Amino acid sequence: MSGIVVFGAGGRAGRAVTAEARARGYAVTAVVREPARHPDLGAEGVTVVRGDVTDLRSVTGAAAGHAGAVHAVSPFSGPEQGFDTLDPGFFVKAADALLEGLAVAGVGRLVAVGLGANLLGADGRPVMDDPGAFPPAIRPFALAHTAGLHRLRERGNGPVDWVMLTPAGHLEHGGVRTGRYRVGGERLPGGGREPWLSYADLAVAVVDEIAQPVRHRTRVSVFNHRDERDQFPEVGREGGGN
Ligand SMILES: NC(=O)c1ccc[n+]([C@@H]2O[C@H](COP(=O)([O-])OP(=O)(O)OC[C@H]3O[C@@H](n4cnc5c(N)ncnc54)[C@H](OP(=O)(O)O)[C@@H]3O)[C@@H](O)[C@H]2O)c1
Repeated sequence: MSGIVVFGAGGRAGRAVTAEARARGYAVTAVVREPARHPDLGAEGVTVVRGDVTDLRSVTGAAAGHAGAVHAVSPFSGPEQGFDTLDPGFFVKAADALLEGLAVAGVGRLVAVGLGANLLGADGRPVMDDPGAFPPAIRPFALAHTAGLHRLRERGNGPVDWVMLTPAGHLEHGGVRTGRYRVGGERLPGGGREPWLSYADLAVAVVDEIAQPVRHRTRVSVFNHRDERDQFPEVGREGGGN
């Protein structure tokens, strides 16, 4: 079985994907910008390498020889960080480097993690355009993320078969792994139930789409429902996510 290369492996989604992939027997190449900052990441079956998802050569070098790649990178980890250093072109650069670099490296599958802010709300507007539903202060990040999705759609007809899995609603760090998830489309799920997902279940969906690709060159939403979480009260919840 060939391995999976995870860009952003030191982050919340990247760590969850790494753990899920290892549990299923995949070797993982964990790409981080500074390995010394992640001394706990290396483990049996996990090779930690230095890399930058916006750099073509870096992507090509890290990805060669893998069955699939995961894009779990974010230049913004929380409101405390602010936006002074946010590059609005970050996700476009990442999409370009991944589509081209993976093609050169001969890696045919890319699973990217999306942002729920660009799903459509009940009124048909993107969630990020509704100040009541999404903090206006974080909109620059949402716009940057959305530009990356557009780039995948514009340029993603080449040899790399990509899919973007977008968590609809709250993504919970430390939330339970149920092993289940629902898949939706461009709209936030309705029906009066609050969409919610643990990072662990996001990782299940990500690894599923590497192991057995079902969705191709598209973006879908991925979610569970918050009331289902309450079926697992014994599991610790650390909060976080956004
Ligand atoms: N509800 C939602 O829709 C929702 C909620 C949360 C997150 N998300 C999305 O999920 C994805 C992952 O988020 P997360 O919560 O896991 O973020 P996170 O915990 O902040 O981790 C992001 C990682 O990206 C890495 N990174 C930053 N710039 C990089 C670069 N140029 N090259 C390589 N790695 C780089 C950082 O790694 P180092 O500093 O170690 O290099 C960091 O560990 C993002 O797309 C985020 O927007 C969606």
